[in-house]
Amino acid sequence: MRETTGECERIEPNTVSGARLLSVLDTAADGIIVIDERGRILVFNKACEKMFGFPATQVIGQNVKVVMPTEYAADHDEYIGSYIRTGERKIIGIGREVHGRHADGTVFPLELSVGEAQTPEGRQFIGILRDLRPRKEGEQRLAELQSELVHLARVSAIDEMGAAIAHELNQPLTALMLYLQAIRRAHAKGVNLSVSVGDILDKATGEAERAGHIIQRMRQFVEKRDPVRQLRALDPLVDDAIELTLLGQRHRIAIGREQQDGLPQVLVDPVQIQQIIVNLVRNAIEAAAQARRPAIRIATSRTASHVMLEVSDNGPGISPDALPKLFQAFASSKRRGMGLGLAISRTIAQNHGGDLVVDPGGDGRGACFALSLPIWADSRGTNADQGGQPHGRAG
Ligand SMILES: Nc1ncnc2c1ncn2[C@@H]1O[C@H](COP(=O)(O)OP(=O)(O)OP(=O)(O)O)[C@@H](O)[C@H]1O
Ligand SMILES: [Mg+2]
Repeated sequence: MRETTGECERIEPNTVSGARLLSVLDTAADGIIVIDERGRILVFNKACEKMFGFPATQVIGQNVKVVMPTEYAADHDEYIGSYIRTGERKIIGIGREVHGRHADGTVFPLELSVGEAQTPEGRQFIGILRDLRPRKEGEQRLAELQSELVHLARVSAIDEMGAAIAHELNQPLTALMLYLQAIRRAHAKGVNLSVSVGDILDKATGEAERAGHIIQRMRQFVEKRDPVRQLRALDPLVDDAIELTLLGQRHRIAIGREQQDGLPQVLVDPVQIQQIIVNLVRNAIEAAAQARRPAIRIATSRTASHVMLEVSDNGPGISPDALPKLFQAFASSKRRGMGLGLAISRTIAQNHGGDLVVDPGGDGRGACFALSLPIWADSRGTNADQGGQPHGRAG
């Protein structure tokens, strides 16, 4: 036997063709296993040794079930038997994703394609295996990075609105201080406060609550947490997001808000949906600022399968040059813009099984962005809380 363990006892290494075949098997990046009609392993190449952690010497001659998790192993002999009897192909010539079992007991995903060969020694099956762990890890990492980016963009939005929000926060705090000072002064002068003090304290409490509410709203928006899907009505999310966006606005702007009665609920991550709305409304406000009388319109409605949100403005619209890159990351015409708002918003919308599209306007018409979110199947009627399936992929 050769020193290398990845080999087959039936391949004759002393012949030219045998030596060549062994070299091909052991050089292959993919795992190659050959089994006979009884499921016994004849070939177990080097890539397989690495993938499964078994030396070939240990598995050759054994049933291929040694490298399968129990739930596959139980039926495998029957698979081969039924194929030999009926010729019906479940995997041969097709290939699919399966699981393998490592020598240390861990189960991992594999892409398996199987071919068959008629040999003088009988029928043999050749499995080519690719370890899917690196790809799965890559996908997982990408998903994590995406969620990190979505979160970062929220922090950045609040950061940009920071000065204006601080200003907004200052108002209730100033009012609160004035109320308290009024009581202090009256007390110092010995004025009888019994009539008005309750009233003043109520107002002071109201202002403190307002300040707390602003802070809480910001905290919820930037908080780092795992996305959660909930059945929600869209309109309250829209109103909350508008309020949050306006906190960060110093300019006067006319806001037209339209909503259709009785909209069904949607299955969404509320914070991410608010992130889309904040992005669209901020963009609209910034575009409308170029108009003589800045105005934006925010409307919710529905189609047969989706709840819609439209955000339009009376700004300059989007130029044909900018249009192709509009939803790409880092495409921004603004001095301080990251160019992430629309890219992230569309990703979030599509992850929810919906979409974000634009009517670019121009020639005196502003842009109009339309967000669509699939209606939760059971809420197409009126009853939304009974479970059921959403239209489209929930992401
Ligand atoms: N309502 C709109 N009207 C006109 N142009 C728009 C409108 N919304 C977006 N744009 C254009 O699309 C570009 C990309 O928008 P996006 O929201 O992705 O990034 P940004 O606003 O530049 O930066 P960020 O949102 O990351 O702070 C903007 O720079 C602007 O040129
Ligand atoms: Mg933006």
